[in-house]
Amino acid sequence: MSDSDSVAQAMKMQNIPIAKPGIGQSEATARIISRPLLIFPCNGNGIEALDCLGSKFYPLGFIDDEPDKVNSDRFGITIFGREVLDRFPDAQVLAVPGGPMSFRERERVIASLGIPVSRFAQVVHPLAQISLLATVGINVLIMAGVVITSNAIIGDHVCVLPNTVVHHDAVVGDWSLIGSNVTIAGNTTIGRNCYIGSGTSVMNSIKVGDRALIGLGSNVIRDVPPSITVVGNPAHALS
Ligand SMILES: CC(C)(COP(=O)(O)OP(=O)(O)OC[C@H]1O[C@@H](n2cnc3c(N)ncnc32)[C@H](O)[C@@H]1OP(=O)(O)O)[C@@H](O)C(=O)NCCC(=O)NCCS
Repeated sequence: MSDSDSVAQAMKMQNIPIAKPGIGQSEATARIISRPLLIFPCNGNGIEALDCLGSKFYPLGFIDDEPDKVNSDRFGITIFGREVLDRFPDAQVLAVPGGPMSFRERERVIASLGIPVSRFAQVVHPLAQISLLATVGINVLIMAGVVITSNAIIGDHVCVLPNTVVHHDAVVGDWSLIGSNVTIAGNTTIGRNCYIGSGTSVMNSIKVGDRALIGLGSNVIRDVPPSITVVGNPAHALS
């Protein structure tokens, strides 16, 4: 059986709906252009990713490391163990692990999947707006209402939650998680492996150091050193 046959069989067994046709597309076109996607893990960002697939991807399954979840399903989508990566080598992968308590492990956890860069997907909600002058990396999840303006750079393995705005010339480093309703002003640099809590504003030209955590609803008006947590207005270190 070919890979595409086995993918089709898996979808049939799970009763996976094929992606809905986009505007002006027939269902036949949607079937041709949609690619199978494995989402790792079955966490909050993973299930929110389902809303962002448009007609570009269809969810072949989740991958999770928790034995209790494996072989169950969420919304009718099977949760597999990591071995599914070998079973469906044509499936692309979106890896979105980590939250406020575990985000510093994201680089290690994503690397532990051991897949080539070419397998990582770039998932952008159809209602996000990305400037043609912006750059977006691989294994990136960008949710509804996000606006990324001219010459901004979003690194690899980054998630940006709904309604966040990343302004001109800003840089978001690899492995960073950006919450919802965040404003990252022009010329700002968010380091690698940072966590920017929802509702935060970061002032122009600020530098946020690698592995820093900005708490929910903060106003960042001064540079943030690496590896620390800041909260509040104005944001200050959490002792
Ligand atoms: C910053 C954060 C990680 C701290 O968590 P924590 O280590 O468990 O800290 P605690 O809840 O014990 O709070 C410690 C102190 O910091 C204060 N604090 C915590 N988060 C704060 C925030 N976002 N803004 C202002 N003060 C905050 C608490 O009031 C407390 O102050 P106190 O010691 O004077 O009572 C967490 O509060 C946070 O903001 N997480 C981000 C959540 C988020 O963005 N979620 C979006 C998901 S989409």
